[in-house]
Amino acid sequence: MDNRRCFLKKSAVIAAVTAFPVLPSCITLNTIEAQVPLKSKEIKNAAVLWYSQSGNTEKCGKVLVKTFEKKGIKVIYGDLRDSDASMVPTVDLIVIGSPVFYYDTPDFVKDFIQSLPDISGIPVAAYVTFGGPEGNQHNAGCSMLEILVKKNGVPVGLESFMSISSYSLSFKENDAEIKTMQKPVLPDQNTYKKVREYAGFILSQVEKGSTSKFKRTLTLREFSTYFGPEWWTKLTVDNHHIIEQNCVGCNACVEKCPTDSIDLDSFSVNTDSCVLCFGCINNCQYQAVNMESNNKKLIGFHEYMEKNNLKFVLPNELKT
Ligand SMILES: Cc1cc2nc3c(=O)[nH]c(=O)nc-3n(C[C@H](O)[C@H](O)[C@H](O)COP(=O)(O)O)c2cc1C
Ligand code: SF4
Ligand code: SF4
Repeated sequence: MDNRRCFLKKSAVIAAVTAFPVLPSCITLNTIEAQVPLKSKEIKNAAVLWYSQSGNTEKCGKVLVKTFEKKGIKVIYGDLRDSDASMVPTVDLIVIGSPVFYYDTPDFVKDFIQSLPDISGIPVAAYVTFGGPEGNQHNAGCSMLEILVKKNGVPVGLESFMSISSYSLSFKENDAEIKTMQKPVLPDQNTYKKVREYAGFILSQVEKGSTSKFKRTLTLREFSTYFGPEWWTKLTVDNHHIIEQNCVGCNACVEKCPTDSIDLDSFSVNTDSCVLCFGCINNCQYQAVNMESNNKKLIGFHEYMEKNNLKFVLPNELKT
């Protein structure tokens, strides 16, 4: 098993090195810009939809919602996986948020945007939350806007908000040090202030009839997305299954899993279809998801926060 793993790792590295010289030619650097005129300068209804695995993108999304609502705008909002895509073209503004996973917007978020009907002339904005300064966050946002523009949305904004990293491969049980965590924990009140400013910017763009243009930046991180980093990272994770004795059958992992890879009847995970998003381990409150790396057990994001006494910062408008 170890030999096969070694072989696969070596093959992945050789493939990466071989493919590197031809990569720039397959990366499109088209300008992302409006293809149709803006439908209206008035916003009465908006949709703010996000995917959020550990809450960062959701909190920022809710701040956008509250800021729009204060301006008298009626907003439909929530997890894009629960939303009715056919409702989206009826609004005057669409904002979509996503975390950055493996230097890009995850495929299931792109698939949702792809599933939208034509949104001709509706202003569209994107935001991402990301865990590290080199997270390729601008390009991840471009990935969303690119599809929205193909649906005839008119781009008016793209923003990224640094947040605490939920990348569970960095969290090992019994690791004493906080390696990747920031202090203070982000998003914080400063981040939420920027989110409110972003909401204001989006509205002023539409009111003025201004649109925005974006271009991907050429970075090594962008190149690496062409290798499907989640697939080779998977080679470093072992023993991914559900621990029967700990599992209470709450279904949280199944609901979060974007690829239906978890079978609670057999307490197994289909590691072929799994995209290593860590949604299961990050959302199980019972330590019932087993994942290991280098013979060390991984722990979920919330458990890691608790163990290290790190606290989320709530935006003022969400405090009860
Ligand atoms: C599977 C996975 C991959 C990630 N990859 C990146 C990345 O490439 N770049 C980055 O800056 N952050 C990365 N992160 C960190 C998340 O983007 C960050 O924590 C984000 O705010 C999580 O949003 P959420 O709380 O709404 O799920 C990753 C997190 C996970 C779980
Ligand atoms: S989230 Fe945890 S406890 Fe709940 S069903 Fe999944 S593995 Fe079991
Ligand atoms: S099984 Fe894989 S794809 Fe599904 S939530 Fe867990 S890590 Fe993500």
